[in-house]
Amino acid sequence: NPLNLIRNFSIIAHIDHGKSTLADRLIQRTGGLTDREMTHGQMLDNMEIEQERGITIKAQTVRLKWKAADGQTYTLNLMDTPGHVDFAYEVSRSLAACEGALLVVDAAQGVEAQTLANVYQSIEYDHEIVPVINKIDLPAAEPEKVRHEIEDIIGLDASDAVLASAKSGIGIDEILQAIVDKVPAPKGDASAPLKAMLVDSWYDPYLGVVVLVRVMEGVLKKGQQIKFMQAGTTHLVDRVGCMTPKIEQLNDLGPGEIGFITAQIKEISEARVGDTITDAKRPAAAALPGFKEVQPVVFCGLFPTDAAEFEKLRDSLYKLRLNDASFSFEMETSAALGFGFRCGFLGLLHLEIIQERLTREYDLDLITTAPSVVYKMHLSHSKNEEAKTIELHNPADMPDPNRIESIEEPWIEATIYTPDEYLGGILKLCQDRRGIQKELTYVGGRAQLKYELPLNEVVFDFYDRLKSISKGYASFDYAQVGHREGDLVKMSILVNEEPVDALSMIVHRGTAEARGRGMCERLKDLIPRHLFKIPIQAAIGGKVIARETISAMRKDVTAKCYGGDATRKRKLLDKQKKGKAKMREYGSVSIPQEAFIAALRMG
Ligand code: GTP
Repeated sequence: NPLNLIRNFSIIAHIDHGKSTLADRLIQRTGGLTDREMTHGQMLDNMEIEQERGITIKAQTVRLKWKAADGQTYTLNLMDTPGHVDFAYEVSRSLAACEGALLVVDAAQGVEAQTLANVYQSIEYDHEIVPVINKIDLPAAEPEKVRHEIEDIIGLDASDAVLASAKSGIGIDEILQAIVDKVPAPKGDASAPLKAMLVDSWYDPYLGVVVLVRVMEGVLKKGQQIKFMQAGTTHLVDRVGCMTPKIEQLNDLGPGEIGFITAQIKEISEARVGDTITDAKRPAAAALPGFKEVQPVVFCGLFPTDAAEFEKLRDSLYKLRLNDASFSFEMETSAALGFGFRCGFLGLLHLEIIQERLTREYDLDLITTAPSVVYKMHLSHSKNEEAKTIELHNPADMPDPNRIESIEEPWIEATIYTPDEYLGGILKLCQDRRGIQKELTYVGGRAQLKYELPLNEVVFDFYDRLKSISKGYASFDYAQVGHREGDLVKMSILVNEEPVDALSMIVHRGTAEARGRGMCERLKDLIPRHLFKIPIQAAIGGKVIARETISAMRKDVTAKCYGGDATRKRKLLDKQKKGKAKMREYGSVSIPQEAFIAALRMG
């Protein structure tokens, strides 16, 4: 396949601007699938939850054949990329595997934060960017306004942006032709030692670990002994192929080509995104730049509601991890919740995806403890130990407060776009969350805000609050900017005088009282009445900073059935028992499972 007939591109877009719909159209137009196969909808999003949530989790690639205006048949490799901030590193590797990108902008919504963040990244990789204004079929479409936004906000020439409707199939041929005309062909020397980038890996029940690669130099062949330069492992390539999106076997992949290999790799943790694949016998001199070890940033405990389901939870976590090396788990025991797992995620969305899959696909009832970021604790020496710095993932493991010299927490820089009218509310939200304003600029009736915020103040419900304040119009994007010292304390929640470690959290001293009060108020509504009075307290050290009381229940629920229908009474008791299955006992108090996350919403 001569290099000049190859084009590698990705699609960048804000969530919901139509990336997946357009990808489907391109596949359909180039004949990769029949109409019948298309009716299953969005081919690239192949996991059930992805379809329901409309989020592309794993990058996938499709090879398209297109006969262009010059009469030549081109190979177009479409790289699909995940659309959420939690998966930014994976996006960066997919972008590094391409020479160009389609920039899809919704003709009714215009340019949004994620669009911009992705464009900047794309420009960093020297991509040729082909603007596409999508959804021109919508009555609210304003393609000319959006064309100007692309020029003013992004600074890209949009005079020949393709006007398209992925839904109605308008502008699809023009997009394919623009890719051929504008995206540069890849470069690479077929006789050089092999250098290929590991773009993605996933577990396939039939093929085992499948590795998506972009060859930069040299040739990747079936039967070749290859080496992963970062992991340091060697493997024998047993399969080479590409997806059209159906699997097609090939003998080799040359420079500029994108495809997959299998090589009897046991676990996807061995096939790390961004690694460089080379020939074991004739290795490349240096690895490709840009490799990063992905690290979970948000941690929480997952416990089965029913202790008997512990084994099932463990098996399910192992299965999920087969396909997602970026989440971590290790066993944990909690006085109140019994045996469970401490899990790490790339962000809250990632956490929610895993939690939802465990509930839905594996039918587990779970209790999720308060999500926490990773704190750095500087400890002074003690009788038995030297001074040291530890990383704290679980507020319940807080060391002896007397030894803590200082605590650092992770910070982020957030970029928010919002129409003017919601700016006031958003500024207040950021201020309330200890934000530091860095920048406020106006571009075409829209405000661009840059704020530095402690990650801890963002993980719980910042995004939901932002969306509700702005009626869904504001967009949000963030990057980590390192750890900073803060006046942080551990707040414990006591229910009926007993600390509930699953609800303990690390908070800033300045906001502790308000947070404590909020938690107590919400728990008061979330915990059902019992036969006795239940005090709920928030405390720092031994000092109570907030308190609520749940009054005692006056009547026996079954009282009204006395003398009456025995089956009705039994049904009522059964119902109560079932309700109980989703509760946890704390001493003599039952706390419903929803309470653990719901109590954390900051209101
Ligand atoms: P993520 O996968 O979440 O990043 O979203 P996406 O950018 O892939 O968007 P998707 O293709 O899922 O489209 C979002 C919604 O817009 C869907 O309901 C589509 O049916 C709709 N949509 C996509 N293209 C068009 C279009 O050209 N016109 C209209 N009217 N709707 C469209």
